[in-house]
Amino acid sequence: MIQKAEFVVSNNNPSNCPKPDRAEVAFIGRSNVGKSSLINMLTGKKELAKTSQKPGKTQLINHFKIDDRWYLVDLPGYGFAKVNVKVKEGWENMITTYLTKRENLCGVFVLIDSRLEPQKIDLDFLLWCGTNGVPAAIVFTKADKQSKSKTHQNIQKFLKKMNEIFEEIPDYLITSSETGQGKDDLEEFILDLVKE
Ligand code: GTP
Ligand code: MG
Repeated sequence: MIQKAEFVVSNNNPSNCPKPDRAEVAFIGRSNVGKSSLINMLTGKKELAKTSQKPGKTQLINHFKIDDRWYLVDLPGYGFAKVNVKVKEGWENMITTYLTKRENLCGVFVLIDSRLEPQKIDLDFLLWCGTNGVPAAIVFTKADKQSKSKTHQNIQKFLKKMNEIFEEIPDYLITSSETGQGKDDLEEFILDLVKE
């Protein structure tokens, strides 16, 4: 179990991130999908990562140090329409540079809203990860928002789409930051990635 979680630093420049001297995993996904909330759920600290009902809350690369042993990183969302093109390009550039250059990054969790039908932007992003050697796993979020059967319906549709694009489907988990669903599985998955 995670005992200690502390904020380290926020950056807009990937080259200013902390020394890559420990394993690191990052959360990414569309704006408002629940990245920051999932970090708070996982660490048991309600206000560790800043969340908002409005998309576009997280705008920087945020490093959290977990149990003095590994880094958990909260990233800005992609696909946020309400910022101007220059800002959007700046974020995208920051995120893609971080994801492709960060040498201690051993896992990237791509969060997908379990309420939605498969979204092109998520499939495109997963494809981009695949072609750029980014080690992606999928986390379906907000499972508390609808019935179990609806969640599973959407997931099956998403996996079917994935099947059309990928030879190998990444691992996936189902979570709710509201109810804590998936916490233990996610923690186990991450600890397996960051263990030496
Ligand atoms: P950006 O930083 O803007 O990219 O968003 P984010 O992906 O970090 O999302 P954030 O964690 O800020 O959550 C967005 C909204 O969704 C907030 O109002 C959260 O309370 C809500 N939310 C996140 N996860 C869940 C969940 O599992 N269940 C429910 N019901 N609401 C959630
Ligand atoms: Mg956020």
